[in-house]
Amino acid sequence: MATLASKPLPTTSTSNPAAATPRAYWETASPAERTPTRVFERAKDVSVTVAREIADLIRAKAAKGEKCVLGLATGSTPTGVYDELVRLHREEGLSFKNVVTFNLDEYWPMQPHELQSYHRFMREHLFDLIDIDAQFTHIPDGTCSEDDVRAMCERYEREIKASGGIDLQLLGIGRTGHIGFNEPGSGRSSRTRLITLDRVTRKDAASDFFGEENVPTRAVTMGVGTILEAKRVVMIAFGEGKAPVVARAIEGAVTNSIAASFLQEHANAQVYLDLAAAAELERCKAPWCSANHDLEWTDALARKAVIWLARTTKKAILKLTAEDYNEHHLQDLLAGRGKAYDLNISVFRDLQRSITGWPGGKPAERKQAGDINRPGDDIFPKRVLIFSPHPDDDVISMGGTFIRLVDQGHQVHVAYQTSGNIAVFDAEALRFLDFASEFNGMFGFEGAKTERMEHDIARKLKAKRPGEVDPPELQKLKGLIRRGEAKAAGIYCGVPEERLHFLDMPFYETGRVRKKPLGTEDIEIVKALLRSVKPHQVYAAGDLSDPHGTHRVCLAAIFRAITECANDAWMKDCTTWLYRGAWQEWDVEQTEMAVPLSPDEVARKRTAIFKHQSQKDRALFPGADEREFWERAEQRNAATAKLYDALGLAEYEAIESFVRWDGRPLD
Ligand code: F6R
Repeated sequence: MATLASKPLPTTSTSNPAAATPRAYWETASPAERTPTRVFERAKDVSVTVAREIADLIRAKAAKGEKCVLGLATGSTPTGVYDELVRLHREEGLSFKNVVTFNLDEYWPMQPHELQSYHRFMREHLFDLIDIDAQFTHIPDGTCSEDDVRAMCERYEREIKASGGIDLQLLGIGRTGHIGFNEPGSGRSSRTRLITLDRVTRKDAASDFFGEENVPTRAVTMGVGTILEAKRVVMIAFGEGKAPVVARAIEGAVTNSIAASFLQEHANAQVYLDLAAAAELERCKAPWCSANHDLEWTDALARKAVIWLARTTKKAILKLTAEDYNEHHLQDLLAGRGKAYDLNISVFRDLQRSITGWPGGKPAERKQAGDINRPGDDIFPKRVLIFSPHPDDDVISMGGTFIRLVDQGHQVHVAYQTSGNIAVFDAEALRFLDFASEFNGMFGFEGAKTERMEHDIARKLKAKRPGEVDPPELQKLKGLIRRGEAKAAGIYCGVPEERLHFLDMPFYETGRVRKKPLGTEDIEIVKALLRSVKPHQVYAAGDLSDPHGTHRVCLAAIFRAITECANDAWMKDCTTWLYRGAWQEWDVEQTEMAVPLSPDEVARKRTAIFKHQSQKDRALFPGADEREFWERAEQRNAATAKLYDALGLAEYEAIESFVRWDGRPLD
């Protein structure tokens, strides 16, 4: 497939050639930041760095014969730190015998054995896997009566004091800006107490509880004041979903509405971010605005700056003037690149080249004068393998391109990586069960076995308590519902049933939002399919903001499988494209292939998404975005098209964006 790599921009960069390995622009703090912050490219690097700091502290304290008092957090963010601490314990002899812990919070009411309990979380992720003395671990008690909560909180505060105070407090940040469960309105001097959870926080927790209605409305949390008394505070955030609140916490004013902003007033606070969570910080978004260091003006950064300038000035790229560059901190860029016009046209052409209505390449007989020849165009039609993490991501995120690929004659296969069973409502399962009974009755299939099975599932379903995992037969039934929907959508898009592959990757099948780690059996399944299809193009979801992490795991499996196939002959003609769309979209400056959709294709894409009836009207886990998936997709694709239009490119109804995988592993 075509390399859509950009032609070099005119002239050279202004960076200092003497610098050995120039720092990436996002590695240097901008003066806008008010809390010390370090940004790493990958989340894993953050986890390892923070775990190392904790381990060093534990060892230093142990060497002095002292206890090390850690404040701990739960949630998805710190799990990598805990994994690394467990590894250090198992492989490098790190002992936790001298460690005392205090957790930030617990839902209230909550029994410690329940799936969502933070007591259980800590045991499963850390305490049961290391040599910590259980009597040194403290977590607010979710079982005490309302009358006793206050006394329990005061006791918690006293215990922290009696231990000598917290040496290092680990924090995540919620989308409301909360640390612990200090929701907006929590004051600088608040202490451990019972609080009411914000609606946004309850939405974010909905998937853990199998529905927002099951999420407790209250929780016990250490206060902002309690947290700020820790000698050292380390806050971590990962993923695009956190980027806006992270920027407000670090660069905005100190305010009760964002508890994390109080870290600006702590003498020894440190924030660690992955690149995605740092995206809204000035150092990433517009480093030229306040850069107190020489920027390495790579072509990619120049392209980012020109697009930013056009959007900031609300001008088409080709209308940007030298004054625009000068007035917006881009003198250096211009000085190193010549005339504004040259720079404009270079970025404009680059963007224009990335737009193609032929995602699988254009066959020779359709070529017209002036068409770009892209490597791989000679292979036509192509074998295309679209990986869809959940049963509906293919049509939601790249439905238009999918339809185009089929229409243009390529042999398209779709691989549904997981069953997606946890996102089906019980009522939907009951409806299908009822249908099966009626159907069997009507056509005289009611063998004793099927009937018993139907009754058994229905009975278990009715006996299920909120927040409980589905029994295995029910999980299967829900998986089948989604499989049927995926088939309907795939066939609607023009793919014969035998080219729809249901991988049911084992890592997913826990019945819970929390999944098993990726295993060799997962990779082998993906590899086997790759080797049987031998695709010229692979499409994979690069949508890493999926709040449940399934997309990330699915992508890691594809990357590993492709890497393991690197020496296969078919691999030399194979290109992997990453799509997004369900949760976020690629930025224009990153996009390497932009596929325009006609109004008719937009309508067909919508119909394909509608085939996923169990996800229609109200998805079980809507995540941060309450719109239905078809609405998100349509609005996002239309917004991308508007953006290209505003930049001065052609005006389309909608655009789907893709980035080529550069071969680097995910973590
Ligand atoms: C957890 C806690 C919360 C989380 C925050 C982020 O003990 O106190 O503040 O750190 O809600 O949650 P995740 O990491 O799941 O995004």
